[in-house]
Amino acid sequence: MPVKNVPLSKEQLSQIITRYPTPFHIYDEAAIRANARKLLTEFDWAPGFKEYFAVKATPNPYILKILYEEGLGADCSSLAELILAEKSGILGEEIMFSSNNTPAQEYRLARKLGAVINLDDITHIEYLEEHAGLPELISFRYNPGPLRSGGNSIIGNPEESKYGLTRRQLMDAYRIVEAKGVKRCGLHTMIISNELDPNFFIETASMMFDLVVEIYRSLGIRMEMVNFGGGIGIPYRPGEKAVDLSYLSNGIRQVYEEKIVSNGLHPLKLTMESGRMITGPYGYLVSTVLHKKEIYKNYVGLDASMADLMRPGMYGAYHHITVAGKEDLPHDHIYDVTGSLCENNDKFAIDRELPAIEIGDILIIHDTGAHGHAMGFNYNGKLRPAELLLRTDGSVKMIRRAETVEDYFATLDFSGL
Ligand SMILES: Cc1ncc(COP(=O)(O)O)c(C=O)c1O
Repeated sequence: MPVKNVPLSKEQLSQIITRYPTPFHIYDEAAIRANARKLLTEFDWAPGFKEYFAVKATPNPYILKILYEEGLGADCSSLAELILAEKSGILGEEIMFSSNNTPAQEYRLARKLGAVINLDDITHIEYLEEHAGLPELISFRYNPGPLRSGGNSIIGNPEESKYGLTRRQLMDAYRIVEAKGVKRCGLHTMIISNELDPNFFIETASMMFDLVVEIYRSLGIRMEMVNFGGGIGIPYRPGEKAVDLSYLSNGIRQVYEEKIVSNGLHPLKLTMESGRMITGPYGYLVSTVLHKKEIYKNYVGLDASMADLMRPGMYGAYHHITVAGKEDLPHDHIYDVTGSLCENNDKFAIDRELPAIEIGDILIIHDTGAHGHAMGFNYNGKLRPAELLLRTDGSVKMIRRAETVEDYFATLDFSGL
């Protein structure tokens, strides 16, 4: 019987629900802190190693602050994400601004905050210069296109994806910004999403180090920082293996020594902007069974819907489900677990083997700590759920309240009817 652990018993959950009605996402602070620490420890050999947490994964200032306290920065890609970083006390080069198709206003705020700006296109050099001025440090996002396999349905394969500069444009871009007085340069890429094979990231590091050497040899520009992007996967299915961070770090270290140290380009600051692997496994969507329905198939209807967690409906993504208090019962029933949207893909699971479920049971949907609440929406007038934090002392703090109908109507003026 496939099992995934939940940090709360049924009794504890029932107690929490008396104060905070379902549905809600709850995040495990102790596990998030331990995970962030582990990442930094594994890369402590790397000069100035920095993980800029991808704010889009869990855009909650309490989570950002916890991660900042552990030594992480923030990777932002929009105005609101920049404001969230600022409000969480994350400033200056602790912020990486990795956006695309970016409005001027966002560049202006990124400049004001002193963020490291990562440009997604060669034409953005002029755009940034015109609207916000060029900073002393600029990074560019590289898209290797046909030079690198990879990608998947989440991010697209490099040749088809809208991100980044071609190799040729990249060379031109560094030449242009150098001529315009930029003093410090960074190089970024992100070509994979939710990948569990650490070798993929080691190959990406190797590709980036080759490029750093080539840029130095052909342009005389010495790269200050390299950003490998995010994309590290998590084991959504029981039985899948998390990326071995120690293996990953050792692999990157080996190519760093071969390519960067041996070419006299040490120290080069290594950075990444992971979201999913930082918080993903430590969030849970907790929901209550409202209805059971038996037609051509058997359905369990929850008080949560795809509006609270879009991944299963959007990508057919697997999220494990635990029925609180029934962990040890035989999983001898087959259900589709659904929400209430008028969309037939509003299903958290299809043909899932689960124990017999009753109305009122508490279902825990796993691995919602990244790209979970964040991807929520209001279709069908659904109100977005609360976010709770299970603190290190075992207490629970609400870190975002649930939306109300007043919030939903806040942008409407009924008096104009
Ligand atoms: C530019 C950029 N950086 C980082 C991330 C974070 O990716 P992940 O959560 O898969 O690590 C994303 C995800 O969409 C992204 O687009």
